[in-house]
Amino acid sequence: MISQKVQDAINKQINNELSASYTYLAMSAYCEHENFTGCAKWLRLQSQEEYGHAMRLFDFLLARDGKIALRAISEPNIKFKSLSHVFETALEQEQSTTAEIDQIYELAHNEKAFAALVEMQWFITEQVEEEKTAREIVAKRKPDAAWKAELPKTPDHRDHRTYANLPDSLAPGLYLVVASVREDFREEDNKVVGVGVIVG
Ligand SMILES: [Fe+2]
Ligand SMILES: [Fe+2]
Repeated sequence: MISQKVQDAINKQINNELSASYTYLAMSAYCEHENFTGCAKWLRLQSQEEYGHAMRLFDFLLARDGKIALRAISEPNIKFKSLSHVFETALEQEQSTTAEIDQIYELAHNEKAFAALVEMQWFITEQVEEEKTAREIVAKRKPDAAWKAELPKTPDHRDHRTYANLPDSLAPGLYLVVASVREDFREEDNKVVGVGVIVG
């Protein structure tokens, strides 16, 4: 038999995992729509994984003769500003899942619910991996430096040159400097240009 407190916490976590699944699905839809098809596929797999987590808890609760209480899943945010925003949101989501899992682990410990403790251990290990993956993706998408330069207005539509300085923070090396009018670098009403620069 499982205590009411632990049962409630696990039911809540089933809902959290299904919400996470739903959010990943929304992210996948955004990426598919923006033609980031590789990311869309990966996010769809994450959605399935989260569903799998919910089912794992669902089966665990039933095996412990607990009662399943399925609650409404909240509507996920579907307005993402950029691909980076998607992965930053994914990282935040994984971080809050880790906090939720830790809380259930602590509760199971206090309630001496040893079977739940063992079950939650699997989730703790899983969260280490999931957070790490999300953090790495966010870090990889971050440039070494990002800065803005105001360009002077030109009197006509011909080519004009303005030189922008590189930030002092760059360590020696070869860089690809990419310029864009839009902050999210999307090529909609925008031109993105890149140039290789060696910093000595
Ligand atoms: Fe999960
Ligand atoms: Fe996750």
